[in-house]
Amino acid sequence: MTLLAKSAQGKGGPDAIFAYSDMANKRAAEVGRENITNATLGTFLNAEGKVLTLKTVEESMHGLDFAESVNYAPLKGLPEYTKAVIDAAFGEYRPAGYIAAVASPGGTGALHNAFYNYLNPGDVAITTNYCWGNYRTMLREMDCTLETFPTFEGEHFNVKACLDKAEEIASRQQTVFMVLNTPAHNPTGYSVSDSEWDEIIAGLTKIAENGKNNVVLVVDVAYIDFAGKGGRGFLQKFSNLPANFLTLVAFSLSKGYTLYGYRLGALIAVSSSAEVIAEFEQATAASSRATWSNCNRAAMMVMCDFAAHADKKAAFKAEQAALSQQLVKRAEIFNTEAKACGLVTLPYKAGFFVMVPTKSIEAAKEAAAILREQDIFLVPLGQGLRVALCAIVEEKVTGLAEKINDAVKKAENKH
Ligand SMILES: Cc1ncc(COP(=O)(O)O)c(C=O)c1O
Repeated sequence: MTLLAKSAQGKGGPDAIFAYSDMANKRAAEVGRENITNATLGTFLNAEGKVLTLKTVEESMHGLDFAESVNYAPLKGLPEYTKAVIDAAFGEYRPAGYIAAVASPGGTGALHNAFYNYLNPGDVAITTNYCWGNYRTMLREMDCTLETFPTFEGEHFNVKACLDKAEEIASRQQTVFMVLNTPAHNPTGYSVSDSEWDEIIAGLTKIAENGKNNVVLVVDVAYIDFAGKGGRGFLQKFSNLPANFLTLVAFSLSKGYTLYGYRLGALIAVSSSAEVIAEFEQATAASSRATWSNCNRAAMMVMCDFAAHADKKAAFKAEQAALSQQLVKRAEIFNTEAKACGLVTLPYKAGFFVMVPTKSIEAAKEAAAILREQDIFLVPLGQGLRVALCAIVEEKVTGLAEKINDAVKKAENKH
């Protein structure tokens, strides 16, 4: 028997990432956290397995007027916040055009507002075949589906597959809706290069100019603050695009400000049309009102605090850069050792995760089981193992590539 509405039946169920994380936590309780390697979750952790926090954010948060911080915020977000979030997202690479931001609960809320307002029920969104699983979950909630194209061709982004897929969708759906999680993609750590972006934008512009289709491109920048120098330059390329080519940037404070649970982000729209931006603000604010209402005012106030005080902002940026540098070190160790022992990984540029491809889904699961015997916990995601470098300190990264290599070889011999 089910009491669920038809549309709600069959959804949900166990989540692979949390299932593996639970196994790791269970084992940690038995033998001690220091004796296991838990590279399952996408949270930046320290040696004690605690979330790494930023002092500057903490101090700003503690300095807030409590009564003010608990109050409702305006639906679109505090005006100083939306201004600050646009600055934070684009830095010195603000594209030319009309720009507006509407606050959201994390990057997830931003994506929700993008999906909900620019797709009709039954529509298809497209993204890379290696992708964050929650896109599919969110789209299902709206009676939409996700179709993918191969992420890579050799060491590079598969621009041809991306544009072929866009053309295919254009032949059966008015709005070509594409999500690209870059820079520092989850789960591979790839960042689309500037020249690849030029080709993608040119191809999508051609579709927008064909007299039949519109284009909505969502750039999910959840990891942009870990993309290193040059990670933002591509954002300026969204200048002066046709009015029916809308760029939406899904920004999150979860990773870059280590405010995961505070749930704050924004959906930022860039367009050459004032009308498109006005309707974006009206529709997404209405969705916010209808879904979660307003967002976390305290987290907004932290961002406003940085925007209003150059010294605090500089200290925050320095601390954030140091955090990002820790990740660079972890990745350098892993990737150098991987190369030395012959472990194949997907092309990594920056970010929280490295992805080790396997020949089959079964081989990925088997390799994860072999590693688990050694108290190493990684998540098998499709045909590969995701290594959450964000979750393990340098000492735990050292030697890991070789162990993964051995496990993958054994698993692939079996499957
Ligand atoms: C690819 C990607 N996009 C967006 C998000 C959004 O995260 P949040 O809703 O916590 O901001 C995440 C978080 O894991 C992610 O991995």
